[in-house]
Amino acid sequence: MPHKYEVVASRIRQNIEERSLKPNDALPSEREMMAVYGVSRMTVRAAISRLIDEGSVYNVHGSGTYVGSPEHVAKGLTLTSFTEDMTSRGFTASSRLLEVARVGATDVISGLLGVEKGTECTKITRLRLADGHPMALETVYVVALVLPLEEFDASRSLYDQLESRGHEVVRAHQQIKAVTPDSDQCELLGVSRGAAALCVDRVASDRRGNAVEFASTIYRGDRYSFEIGITKENREL
Ligand code: GLP
Repeated sequence: MPHKYEVVASRIRQNIEERSLKPNDALPSEREMMAVYGVSRMTVRAAISRLIDEGSVYNVHGSGTYVGSPEHVAKGLTLTSFTEDMTSRGFTASSRLLEVARVGATDVISGLLGVEKGTECTKITRLRLADGHPMALETVYVVALVLPLEEFDASRSLYDQLESRGHEVVRAHQQIKAVTPDSDQCELLGVSRGAAALCVDRVASDRRGNAVEFASTIYRGDRYSFEIGITKENREL
């Protein structure tokens, strides 16, 4: 049985098609959708975030929801695994496992994952490769109940493994910042000291809204960039 919000999401998709709405056309308000689909505000919101995630629609704060246009699904805005991200950029992804360990959640990690301090986590550090060459250095903490250390398969995509264990990653909060990797990191990434890099910290949650991973990924500045589509908030101008 699909979730109620998924049913509403597919009815909104259908509606966009049937009414031949074009990119940037406005969708009905939340209140109208609640009345039309006979569901709560929460369900309408969940359906809309689903459609935002897939790029079908976008939100303008204080204004409403609009039909998505291609620039709103630019690379970097959709939630992807490293494997998917590399495939979409035309590379073949692989990894070199550097460390896998059982650790207790520190203050910071427990806060980010919403678990008790000391909760057992699986820590995975991988050098992530694109066409066999270093692209990023990544350390991930996953709650051990979600993925016990002995069950992690280093040859497979982490997100595929989480999905097959019933924890498909569907939402994330990310912070992107510039960093200069330290000497060990430079050596692993194959860049010289002082080279620029992009650090992406991600807390990702599953469909039930539970945070399942905290990941910190350092991408080579000379090989990786994000593209994002932006619009003016005031659409009348
Ligand atoms: C990206 C994300 C990480 C995530 C990883 C999973 O790099 N920033 O948060 O852990 O993808 O990648 P894969 O499923 O290819 O192992």
